[in-house]
Amino acid sequence: GLTFSGVYNVQGTPVKRLCKSHNIITVNGQFPGPNIEVRNGDTLIITVSNRTPYNVTIHWHGIRQIRTAWADGPEFVTQCPVKPGGIYTYRFTIKDQEGTLWWHAHSSWLRATVYGALIIHPKEKKNYPFLPPKREYPILLGEWWDQNPIDVIHEAISTGSAPSISDAFTINGQPGDLYNCSSKEITIFPVNPGETILLRFINAALNTELFVSIAGHSMMVVAADASYVKPFLTSVIMLAPGQTTDVLITTSLPPSRYYIAARAYSSAESLPFDNTTATAILDYDCGCLPGPTQPPPAQPILPAFNDTLTVTAFSAAFKSPTPVKLPSPVDEHLFFTVGLGLFDCLPGQICGGPNHTRLTASINNVSFVLPYSSSLLQAHKLAVPGIFTTDFPAKPPVEFDYTGKNVGREQPEPATKLYKLRFGSVVQLVLQGTSIVAAENHPIHLHGYNFYILAEGFGDFDPARDTEKFNLIDPPLRNTVGVPMKGWAVIRFVADNPGVWLLHCHLDVHITWGLAMAFLVEDGLGVLEALEPPPLDLPLC
Ligand code: C2O
Repeated sequence: GLTFSGVYNVQGTPVKRLCKSHNIITVNGQFPGPNIEVRNGDTLIITVSNRTPYNVTIHWHGIRQIRTAWADGPEFVTQCPVKPGGIYTYRFTIKDQEGTLWWHAHSSWLRATVYGALIIHPKEKKNYPFLPPKREYPILLGEWWDQNPIDVIHEAISTGSAPSISDAFTINGQPGDLYNCSSKEITIFPVNPGETILLRFINAALNTELFVSIAGHSMMVVAADASYVKPFLTSVIMLAPGQTTDVLITTSLPPSRYYIAARAYSSAESLPFDNTTATAILDYDCGCLPGPTQPPPAQPILPAFNDTLTVTAFSAAFKSPTPVKLPSPVDEHLFFTVGLGLFDCLPGQICGGPNHTRLTASINNVSFVLPYSSSLLQAHKLAVPGIFTTDFPAKPPVEFDYTGKNVGREQPEPATKLYKLRFGSVVQLVLQGTSIVAAENHPIHLHGYNFYILAEGFGDFDPARDTEKFNLIDPPLRNTVGVPMKGWAVIRFVADNPGVWLLHCHLDVHITWGLAMAFLVEDGLGVLEALEPPPLDLPLC
C-alpha cells in the first residue's frame, strides 16, 4: 500500500448558517472537514495540531486499528487528549477493509463540527462487487446548533437535564433551502442522465437518527459500515449516528432537479426532537433548466417521524452477500442492559431532570466514568494502579422487566469498569434496551471490531424463544447496531485485536451520561497478536 500523510490543524473558524455567524471548531478551516480517500492496504499518517482552547482527539470510526489501538482516538480511553497547543500523529494501516467510514473528534461534543468522510477504495486492480459507478459522492448528514455545541452540552451537564435540540440538520454542512436564510446554503450534486451513481451516506449527527430519501429514485443498498451487503432496493434508508450506508442510484428520470431530504426518526414519543428537514439537490445536467424560472425540485416522500415499522423492516433487510463462517463456539456469553437512569439530586446540586433528579445512563447499571488522570490503555500497558477495575458485570445485577411500563427507578453506580477478554475468545453479546426513564433506540458502537448482528427483536430477550431467530447463515457485519426501542439485539465477534476498546451509544448525549463501557482485550501469545509499543509522541494527561 501507499502512504497517505496529512496535517489536521484544528482551529476556530467563523461559519454562517441560519442567518447567524459563529466561530466553530474545524479542521483546516473546512466544514465539514476534509474527506480522505485511500485504498485498502494504505498507511495513514495524520498529524493533529490543536489550535483551540479545548482538548482534542480524532477517532477513525470503523477502522479496526489492528495492534495499533494507540491511534484509535477516544479521549482517556486509548490516549490522553491533545491539549491546546499540542500535537499528536496518528499512524495506522488499513487491513482488509474497504468502503465508507469516517473520522470525527472524540472529545466532549467537538464532533458536532469536527468530522469528515474516510473512503477506502479497493486495492489497485481490484473492483467493487458491482458494476463500476460513473461517479461517487460522500454525503455527510449532520446536526447544527445556533449556540456553540460545547456550551449546549456543558449546560446540560451542569443541570443534569436534557440538552437543547439542534436547530437544523445538514447535508455536507448545508441545511438546504427549506430553512430560513438558507436558499443558497444547499449542496448540489451534479449528475448526467443515464448514469449509475454511488452515494456514500454517513450519519455524523450528534443525537439524531435520520431517514433519507431521494425524490423519485429508489436506492440499491450495497454496503454498510464498510462491509458489503446482499444488494436490496428501498425508497428510504435510516441511519443512526455512527452508521454509514452505500447506495447505487440510476439517473433514469426526466432531467430535472430532485431533492435528497433527511429528517429525524424519533422513536421516543415523549421526548422533544428537531422536526426540521435538510435538503440537497440531485441536479441532472441537461442544459435545459435556466436559472430563475427553474421549477422547484421534486419532493421525496419521507416516513413519519415515529415510523418504527419502516425502520424494523429496513434493518431486517441487511444480510452478508454470501454465507459467512460464523465464529463459534461462544466462549463469553454477555448480557448488557443499555438505557437511561436517574441520579438522586444531592443537596446544593442544580437538577433539571424529571422529579428533581439528574439524568444519567448506564450499561448493566454502571454509568461509565472516564479516568481523566490517564488513559485506560496507558494505565493498562504501564500497569498504573487505581485507574480502572476489571469487574464489569457480565449480566445486570438484578433481573427485571426491562421494557415494561413500570420498571421502577435505577440509580446506577458511576465507575470505570472494564471487562477483560482473553485474546481470541468468541464473544456473544445481548444488548437489551430498557425503558426506565424513556424508551429509545440506542445505536451501540464498538471500537476496534466489526461484529455480526445475529438478531434483533422487541420486548425482553428470552433465550428460549429468541435464539431460534438467530441468523447463523448470512448475518450482516457492522460496527454500529441500532438496539430497537423497547427491544434487543444480539451481536457476535472474536476478540482478536488487543487493546482497550470502547463500547458506547453513539448518541453523544448518552455517552456524556455514561452509556459506555470498555473491553480490555489481552495480548495473544504470538508477536503478531500483541499490541505494538506506544508511539513516542503519545500525549500525557
Ligand atoms: Cu464514532 Cu466512539 O465513536
